[in-house]
Amino acid sequence: MPAKMIAREHWSKIGFLMAAIGSAVGLGNIWRFPYMVGSNGGGAFLIPYLIAVIAFGIPLMMMELDAGRRFKGSVVTTLKQINRKVWPLGVLAPIVSLSILSYYLVISGWTLGYFVFSITGYMEFSEFTNSLLPFFYFVITLAITAYIVSKGVKRGIETASMILMPILFIVLVALAVYALYLPGAAEGLAFYLTPDFSYLTDPNIWLMSISQAFFSLSVGYGILITYGSHLSKNTRIGRSVLGIAGADTLIAFIGGLIVFPIVFSFGLNPAEGTELSFIALPKVFSIMPFGMLIGFLFFFLLFTAALTSSISMLELGAANFIDELKWSRRKAVAFLSAIIFVVGIPSALSFYGSGVSFMGEPFIDFMDNSLGTLLMLSSALLCIAVIWFFRPAVFDVRNRILQKIRASSIMIFLLKYVIPIILFILFVIELLSGGGN
Ligand code: PFF
Repeated sequence: MPAKMIAREHWSKIGFLMAAIGSAVGLGNIWRFPYMVGSNGGGAFLIPYLIAVIAFGIPLMMMELDAGRRFKGSVVTTLKQINRKVWPLGVLAPIVSLSILSYYLVISGWTLGYFVFSITGYMEFSEFTNSLLPFFYFVITLAITAYIVSKGVKRGIETASMILMPILFIVLVALAVYALYLPGAAEGLAFYLTPDFSYLTDPNIWLMSISQAFFSLSVGYGILITYGSHLSKNTRIGRSVLGIAGADTLIAFIGGLIVFPIVFSFGLNPAEGTELSFIALPKVFSIMPFGMLIGFLFFFLLFTAALTSSISMLELGAANFIDELKWSRRKAVAFLSAIIFVVGIPSALSFYGSGVSFMGEPFIDFMDNSLGTLLMLSSALLCIAVIWFFRPAVFDVRNRILQKIRASSIMIFLLKYVIPIILFILFVIELLSGGGN
C-alpha cells in the first residue's frame, strides 16, 4: 500500500509554527476575544484569561505536541500506542472537532461571501442568510480546505500557512493602526481595556476565560498531537508552545484594537457578537474613509484566519484514516469532505426560507452550543487518556527550561487532576444551562 511506504513528512521549523499558529488564530481571536474582554470587565478579563492560557493551555499544548512527536501518528494511532485499552477515550475529540468543522466552514463561508461583497457591494445579512449563497460559499470553502489538506502536510498545509499567516499579520497590524487613528478610538480603547476588577469575583468569568482559552489555542482537540507527529526529534517543544500561545494571545489582543475603535467611532453597540461583523461593520465600511479597502482587508483577515483553522480540523480527522487504515491522503480527504458536506447542509441552510432548526433553535446555533459543551468532555477524556498512561518527556525534570522552577511536576499535577476536573465542571455547568455559551 503506497501510504505505508511514504516516509512521514516533517515540517520545517517555521512551517510548523505558522501552521500551528494558523490553527490557533481563527474567528475566535478576531471577534470572540475582543467581545469577551469588552463585556467582561475590560482589562480585568485579561487576568483570568492569561492564567487560563498559562496554567491550562500551555501544559496541555506541551502534552499534546510531545505525545504526537513521540508516537508519530494521528490521535487514534498515538492513543493506541499509549495504551491499547484506553484509546477509545480519546476518540471523541476528533469526532467532535470534525462535527465542529461542519458548521465552522459555514461561518467561514459567510466571511468569504462578505469578502466578495466588499468588492461588489454588501448584501443585508438577513437577505444573505435567507438565500442559497451561504450554501454556495460553504461548498467553496470546503473545497478550498479539502484541496489544501489533500496536497499534504508540507506541500499543502505548510505552504498555505507560510503564505497566509504573514499576510494575515500584516493586514491585522495595518487595520489596527488605521483604527487607532479614527476619531473616538480612545473611547473604544477605554471600553476595551479599562479594568473593572469587580468582575473577578464572578466565577462565571473564570469559567468563560478557560473555555475561551481552550477554543482560541485549539487545544484539547488533538490537533497538536496530529501536528506534533510531523515534528522532528530535536524540536524544542517548550519554546514552540510559548511561541504559539504568545502569538495567539497577541493576535487576539490586536483584534480588539481593531474592533473597538471602529465600534465606538461609529456609535455601534459593542455587545453585539456575530451580528457585529456581518451587520454593523459592513454598514460602517460603506461610509468610512477608505471603507472599501478596509472592508476588503477585514473580511480577508477573517477568512484567512478561519481557513487555516479549518485546515487543521480536517487534517486532524484525515490523519486517522491515513495512519490507521492506510488510506491514501486523497481518499481520506474525499471521504471526510463528503461526510462534512452532508452534515454541514442543515447548518448552511439554517436561515434559508423557513429555516432549519432543531430543538427550537437554528441548526447552526444548536451545533455550536451542543458541540461547544461536548468539547469540554472530549478534551477532558483526551487529557486523561494521554497523561494517565504516558509521561511526556517535556515534563522530565531534566528538561532544562522547566527544571529550575520545578514546573514539570506542577504541570503533571495540573494535567492529571486539575484540568480534567475543571473541564468536567465546565461540561456539567454548560449541560445544565442548556449548552449556551
Ligand atoms: N482556534 C480557533 C479560533 O480561535 O477561532 C478555533 C478552532 C480551530 C477550534 C481549530 C478548534 C479547532 F480544532
